[in-house]
Amino acid sequence: MYKLILEKTAYTPSQLSGLDLPQIALAGRSNVGKSSLINTLGGRKNLAKTSSTPGKTRSVNFYLVEPVKFHLVDLPGYGYARCSMAEREKWGLLIQKFLEDNSLLKAVVLLLDSRLEPQVLDLDLAQYVRTLNLDLIPVLTKADKCKQKKIEHIRKTWTQILGLTDPLVVFSSKTGLGKDQLWERIIQKVAG
Ligand code: GTP
Ligand code: MG
Repeated sequence: MYKLILEKTAYTPSQLSGLDLPQIALAGRSNVGKSSLINTLGGRKNLAKTSSTPGKTRSVNFYLVEPVKFHLVDLPGYGYARCSMAEREKWGLLIQKFLEDNSLLKAVVLLLDSRLEPQVLDLDLAQYVRTLNLDLIPVLTKADKCKQKKIEHIRKTWTQILGLTDPLVVFSSKTGLGKDQLWERIIQKVAG
């Protein structure tokens, strides 16, 4: 139904400029499934590069969504330990520059691993996004790897912690679970 086309890749803050369409970003810890989610939403396996080794995505990638005309933005994951301090700082600055003072950004899809209890890094990011007055769309990833009971538990926990009114989207890139619901939420934010 929607088509995704990689339109721009930014490795430095200065490369983030020059765009004018609304944006929806995907944020979350390294390896949580951001790039896989892009592939599932786009209906193609190799749109975004994925890897079982954390730290795969190192640039900010802008995917044009047709026919609606906005950008889905795949961000590098945070909390990736196996790289130098300098490199981590560089990514941090790039993400910070992207999120702050970005009037095109309509919402941040926050990816959370359905198998894990809330992690400090996730809470920090949720807090940070909120202090920037950005809308959050929380998504529980890798639902195919998690028992229904556990998913319900973690869904309740996050709803409480974040004080959510809408239910969290339960998602699996493997089975496509939650794909239509997530598209709906994203389009709502772009239109609103
Ligand atoms: P970085 O680019 O390092 O920030 O990671 P990422 O968040 O983009 O994660 P990526 O999409 O590369 O996925 C990491 C690993 O998790 C890969 O081995 C994926 O195949 C796997 N994975 C992602 N989503 C799912 C899912 O819904 N179900 C299952 N079973 N595996 C998944
Ligand atoms: Mg990635």
